Amino acid sequence: MTTHPSENDKIVDIVKVTKIYPPDVMALRDISLTARRGELIFLTGASGAGKTTLLKLLTCLERPTKGVIEIGGNDINTLTSKAVQKLRQRIGVAYQDFRLLPKQTVFQNIAMAMEVRFKSPKEIKQRVDELLEMLAITDKRNNPSGKLSRGEQQRVAIARAAANAPPLILADEPTGNLDDESTARVMSLFSQLNSQGSTIIIATHDASIYKNTHHRLLHLQHGQITEKDTV
Ligand SMILES: Nc1ncnc2c1ncn2[C@@H]1O[C@H](COP(=O)(O)OP(=O)(O)OP(=O)(O)O)[C@@H](O)[C@H]1O
Ligand SMILES: [Mg+2]
Repeated sequence: MTTHPSENDKIVDIVKVTKIYPPDVMALRDISLTARRGELIFLTGASGAGKTTLLKLLTCLERPTKGVIEIGGNDINTLTSKAVQKLRQRIGVAYQDFRLLPKQTVFQNIAMAMEVRFKSPKEIKQRVDELLEMLAITDKRNNPSGKLSRGEQQRVAIARAAANAPPLILADEPTGNLDDESTARVMSLFSQLNSQGSTIIIATHDASIYKNTHHRLLHLQHGQITEKDTV
């Protein structure tokens, strides 16, 4: 007997999505992709292939030109701006350009994600300090994030995305500025979150993080997506 995964097993469902940036940049062409709860998916493709665009569509930073995107069974194109705000609070995003508040400290930048979810100050302190330790940036805890190196800022952005251990995490080129040791730390944090149930999509050029893993590997080329082997 074959078992079919139920519909609510899908956390992300992208159906025939096209994204054209005006006037005529075809960033994504008729893409379909389903992510099931608990998957870790690597998204690869040359610079300009559309990886960031795909992730931006999932948080409504960009809107599809055509097609439907469902997250947790809801068509995100029909959400009110308040509902979009709520959706964003439930997705942990580490942006390619970090988007930290430069004057706020490292601690404050990460804590913010938990404050909007009404976590207690005690829980916030515990979790933020744990993440700083895991990513080896404890010594920068009280420094303004704008004064950090790019690799340090990158780890702060990842810690912020991970803070609430959200059901969905999107990481855009998360190891782009990191040395081998920091890369290993970041990947071990993602593995931990994934084994605790978070679905994670990682856009990357870094083959070392997906080679010989058992996770899904998707490749974007000329605006289209194909499934590849990680071994
Ligand atoms: N706001 C925008 N306006 C117009 N064109 C855009 C915009 N954002 C991206 N593009 C174009 O869309 C295409 C896909 O860009 P995208 O940033 O998604 O690529 P990427 O795969 O993330 O690249 P990289 O690996 O360099 O980060 C590119 O041709 C890019 O120039
Ligand atoms: Mg990009």
